[in-house]
Amino acid sequence: MCGIVGVLGNHEVSPLILDALKRLEYRGYDSAGIATVNRGHLDRRRAVGKLINLSDVMVHDTLPGRSGIGHTRWATHGAATVENAHPHQVGRVAVVHNGIIENYRALRDELGTAGAQFSSETDTETIVQLTSSYLDQGMTPVQAARATLKRLEGAFALAFLFEGEDDLMIGARRGSPLAIGHGDGEMFLGSDAIALAPMTDRITYLEDGDWAVITRAGAQIFDADDRQTNRRLQHINVEAARVDKSGHRHFMAKEIAEQPAVLRAALEQYAGPAGIALPEGLEFARADRLIMVACGTAFYACQVAKYWFEKYAGLSVELDIASEFRYREPVLGPDNLALFVSQSGETADTLAALRHVQGRVAQVMSVVNVPTSSIARESDIALPIHAGPEIGVASTKAFTAQLQVLALLALHAGLARGHITAAEHAELVAQLRSAPGFVAKALDREDEIRRITETLSRARDVLFLGRGVMYPIALEGALKLKEISYIHAEAYAAGELKHGPIALIDEDLPVIVFARHDDLFEKTISNMQEVMARQGQVLLISDAPGLAAAGTVPRSLQMPTVPELIAPIVYAVPAQLIAYHTALHLGTDVDQPRNLAKSVTVE
Ligand code: F6R
Repeated sequence: MCGIVGVLGNHEVSPLILDALKRLEYRGYDSAGIATVNRGHLDRRRAVGKLINLSDVMVHDTLPGRSGIGHTRWATHGAATVENAHPHQVGRVAVVHNGIIENYRALRDELGTAGAQFSSETDTETIVQLTSSYLDQGMTPVQAARATLKRLEGAFALAFLFEGEDDLMIGARRGSPLAIGHGDGEMFLGSDAIALAPMTDRITYLEDGDWAVITRAGAQIFDADDRQTNRRLQHINVEAARVDKSGHRHFMAKEIAEQPAVLRAALEQYAGPAGIALPEGLEFARADRLIMVACGTAFYACQVAKYWFEKYAGLSVELDIASEFRYREPVLGPDNLALFVSQSGETADTLAALRHVQGRVAQVMSVVNVPTSSIARESDIALPIHAGPEIGVASTKAFTAQLQVLALLALHAGLARGHITAAEHAELVAQLRSAPGFVAKALDREDEIRRITETLSRARDVLFLGRGVMYPIALEGALKLKEISYIHAEAYAAGELKHGPIALIDEDLPVIVFARHDDLFEKTISNMQEVMARQGQVLLISDAPGLAAAGTVPRSLQMPTVPELIAPIVYAVPAQLIAYHTALHLGTDVDQPRNLAKSVTVE
């Protein structure tokens, strides 16, 4: 959700900033821009749309300078226009911003009354106008930035650059992530370590409320109370932060394909040959309730995990979408545990929900992909999923890796609570260890899925059905399809169909049914028959026993026969591939679908 980068370099910085923005483009791609200071002169270039448009502008209209800031935007306030693109510049200061300034209307009115002329509709411009007014009052750049920060409400990460200051950049973080990179006589700022990885492996993550005065000699960091402070310098694994498509056409294709390897790597960490290695101190034994909170795909992972925690651990689970949870008045108790699931670890709603429960429940846990993220750092116990950078905006490998870690946790909880025996636990963990192999087998169905999606790509609407753990998989399938093919898709618990949605069924409506051959199979198949009786175009995704038992169906896709526990992990694969190949038929922008951004750091 908007990417920020800043460089105080030894050479021309525009190419470096463009390159870093490329790695941040997953955070938004409505517009992009760069500002530099060249021999004291502050200047900028901006362009609407993907970064390539900015690169094109800069081929003809170069932007020299050894200090600069850059931005890739996901629009919040104001349409995607050049005027609204960052960096915003007023007088002697330019700013790039990720987040939302909540009191911008009041500030805008105040500044307008004082004579400020606004040239954009953004909340960000109020920041620059404020700083510029403080500079005009005679403050130094550091004083002006500090005074500005005091006036801002909301969530943000900011980078400031000043006319006449070749060796100064100010960064600030409240709510949205920001990291400082340390080079040799060079310094960097970035929304994440991925952006900075080729330039440095030495990173300091700013804490919430921190701001930093950065020169080529280093960074002085101040906390929210303006006390100078030290933050730990960390060495990141540059290799792990490397992002390329490894020969695949899209990041999404690569990330779908690498799921067996990703799942194996995570199993290695948590359930290697030496046994289960979950963090110490998990408090499942005494818990009376587990509260799980997340957004989007991560929420569907929680929805699957609810079945597991209830079945294998006898633990009552309450699930909520993060944006709803924090605005209810959830009843929390000292024996409740809270678990937050997030790929990015920066999702604003999930983070706010986490902060809402802190100190009010026995333990706050998180399952994240980015171990240095805010959600990880603010949890009592964080469990990384070890999926590596996920760049495709539509989440795929993070979902299955989240499921795997959640399954391990549920089994651990079962053992700790005496709900399953050690032998049952060992048997279930062995089933989990078979997941990567079965996921690989599911991936083998790709050609067939490609053929099936030829007709699907002509549909206006698609319905997904499932029961039990297959219901969240249906939800995930519908979400993936909506996101990257723009086809309207809905998912229903199969039994819910007759309570309303069945009115939608006609001969033009494809209905995709996820049904492993299990205890619920017959019931799902009855619901499928109700669809077929009304000429709905059914695609049944099941295993060999299921397909044999279902009789004649218009279309089917055969999955490997898998143990119950790992079925949602394996059936996630066709859900992903259906969306991917439908999108390919339609020619949409798979990795950067319209209106979306990867890391949603605004409410
Ligand atoms: C869908 C998708 C989103 C995210 C959601 C939460 O493909 O990626 O629905 O799952 O925005 O993001 P994280 O997991 O980063 O908290």
